[in-house]
Amino acid sequence: MLLEGLDLFMDSLSKSKYIVALTGAGISTNAGIPDFRGPNGIYKRKDIPGEKIFEVSYFQQNPADFYKLFSDMVDSYANAVPTKGHLFLKKLEDIGRLKTVITQNIDGLHQKAGNTNVIEVHGSFSNFYCISCGKVFPMSEKIVSVIRKGNVPVCDACKGALKPDVVFFGEPVHGLEKALTEVQRADMLIALGTSLSVYPVATLPSYITDNTMLVIINAEPTQYDHRAKIVLHEDIDLIVERTKLL
Ligand code: OAD
Ligand code: ZN
Repeated sequence: MLLEGLDLFMDSLSKSKYIVALTGAGISTNAGIPDFRGPNGIYKRKDIPGEKIFEVSYFQQNPADFYKLFSDMVDSYANAVPTKGHLFLKKLEDIGRLKTVITQNIDGLHQKAGNTNVIEVHGSFSNFYCISCGKVFPMSEKIVSVIRKGNVPVCDACKGALKPDVVFFGEPVHGLEKALTEVQRADMLIALGTSLSVYPVATLPSYITDNTMLVIINAEPTQYDHRAKIVLHEDIDLIVERTKLL
């Protein structure tokens, strides 16, 4: 089954002209960045109040909880290097087949790998803003050193807590319309390393046209598996190695 799926995937890759990738935290686990819902995911940790940690209303009351989690992660984001999965998507762009990466990730690894058209639907850490007065602060070494110590970075104007410009539950996602247009233009949509369970991004695969081949590469089943032409329940890096495109 896996081998059949792989053969069909490789054959279809060489025929596709407008590939769009939709990625999630699973593409970065091999870079040492944990996912959320996988067996070793962040939401499985006992010291974290589950998904609440990324609720904007919870953050407003308890910014220190988020920064306690994030203090461990700030250096792993900074030092992480792209995985084979990221390099595979860069290669697909280089050979003119992949046009867009839509990512829920906030680790910047697609850009580090060299992909040029990346829609970061859940935002990024390039900016922070004050939750009291709204003042914007670009990511800086000063902010990182406060976070690294496990403290909450604060606004220099009003001492309000700074929140990264990462989309929390309760906030609108970024670039959804553009992402939707790209999905509708695609002749192949590859979802990699995402549980496809967080909305509104999880609606995107339902917008493919009749001519779009949906491919899912994810360790665990997803709600879209039955609609996909190819489903590979395997490690992403293992799969992309076997395509021999790297
Ligand atoms: P999830 O943690 O929900 O899903 C990651 C999926 O990747 C899981 O199904 C894993 O089994 C799978 N996986 C992990 N490592 C893999 C590997 N090496 N090869 C193949 N599969 C692998 O992550 P997302 O779908 O990205 O949002 O989660 C979506 C959103 O939920 C995140 O952006 C974040 C989170 O709450 C916000 O915080 C707003
Ligand atoms: Zn302020």
